[in-house]
Amino acid sequence: MDKILIQGGIALAGEVHISGAKNAALPILAATLLSSEIHRLKNVPRLGDITTLKRLLEKIGAEISEKDDYCEIQVKHIKNNEAPYSWVKTMRATILVLGPLLARCGEAHVSLPGGCAIGARPIQLHLMGLEKMGAEITIEHGIIHAKAAKLKGAAIYLETPTVTGTETLMMAAALAEGTTTIENAACEPEIGDLAHFLNHCGAQIIGAGTDHIVINGVSALSGASYEVMPDRIEAGTFMLAAAITKGDLHLKNCRPADMISIIEKCRTTGSEIRVEKDALRVLGKEIHAVDLKTLPYPGLPTDMQAQFMALMSVSDGASVITETIFESRFNHCAELRRMGADIRVEGKHAMIKGVPRLSAAPIMASDLRASASLILAGLVAEGETEIRRIYHLDRGYEAIEQKLTDVGAVIQRVKGKA
Ligand code: EPU
Repeated sequence: MDKILIQGGIALAGEVHISGAKNAALPILAATLLSSEIHRLKNVPRLGDITTLKRLLEKIGAEISEKDDYCEIQVKHIKNNEAPYSWVKTMRATILVLGPLLARCGEAHVSLPGGCAIGARPIQLHLMGLEKMGAEITIEHGIIHAKAAKLKGAAIYLETPTVTGTETLMMAAALAEGTTTIENAACEPEIGDLAHFLNHCGAQIIGAGTDHIVINGVSALSGASYEVMPDRIEAGTFMLAAAITKGDLHLKNCRPADMISIIEKCRTTGSEIRVEKDALRVLGKEIHAVDLKTLPYPGLPTDMQAQFMALMSVSDGASVITETIFESRFNHCAELRRMGADIRVEGKHAMIKGVPRLSAAPIMASDLRASASLILAGLVAEGETEIRRIYHLDRGYEAIEQKLTDVGAVIQRVKGKA
């Protein structure tokens, strides 16, 4: 298995081009199943998770060709309306094909995802919403069987604002008969991006990105050309790379308006952040201890919690980080402790006492954002940090070593045996 070696202690400086958002590209790719026409998608990041979904779409019947700066995709016919366990176990977001398959061909058989490193991650709200729209759903031998000759618009209330749940229901409702409303919908910007894409295809969706979404079903969708939004979590991760190394990074092609909570929290820790039109300049200065709590959008994203933990590990005082979204998203703490961080975890809370320096150690990544946190820690640790299990990182950060090298980091991937 590959590993990453990082020499700590270098202040990063220069420009970073932020890639397209993984969590917007995934539902948009799944949504291409809703139409038989050609789609041209720009700014789709080259990532492990995106490749996994593209391969599954091909099994289902998509023809995909990669051009210089866009990807062309067409699903003329659905050859196969299944997503078996072998796919779902590699990436839970493959569940995103359930709604579109059901809406397009009246039947779908998708393996029920299990839990993962960060929590149990149920999907009962996705299924409840589809049932409200008239789907008959059974689960047998770990497979969700969903059937509906024609989905019908419905009034759906989500007890918890689920991101992929909202996306699943929005995609299904786009081709349903009549109007669907989703109350207490998740408000993440990626949901707005999916709705923009669907509306480019002829869907009628109003209010995506707020907690009240109205979808007027249409009989068919066309193809569309669309550019995926920038990745606010990748941008936030580089923001903290500037903060932790006391560097100066200019993040190009990002959307500051989607990142208010991350920007404000990073400012409170002592960094100077200049907001530009499609860019951010981050100047790392002092690192003050601040408390923080993850919340659904527009609160601080859970996908930034691990990276803030690395920053707080070298702050000037004591802080408390509260994780309210996922029940076991503190796997990085034990690894940060191996590097000298002073972190105590009790339930949803992590108490961190900032230390003057971290020291390099061999450590292991446990999930995508935990890997990013370890990279940040490695960038300031004394000595050479060795991070194993970095396949997690490749699922969600495009060309991360190259981007870090370009701004001065000494980072190297060592190829290992498979
Ligand atoms: N939940 C339920 N029932 C459901 C669905 C969700 O109780 O039926 C709960 C979950 O247990 C959790 C909360 O709702 O406590 C929020 O989970 P959500 O469903 O919103 O998460 P998700 O859709 O599975 C997406 C992102 C995650 C990100 C979360 C939260 C994608 C592909 N994944 O997951 O991204 O952490 O929203 O913002 O969009 C990542 O990129 O590293 C990542 C994990």
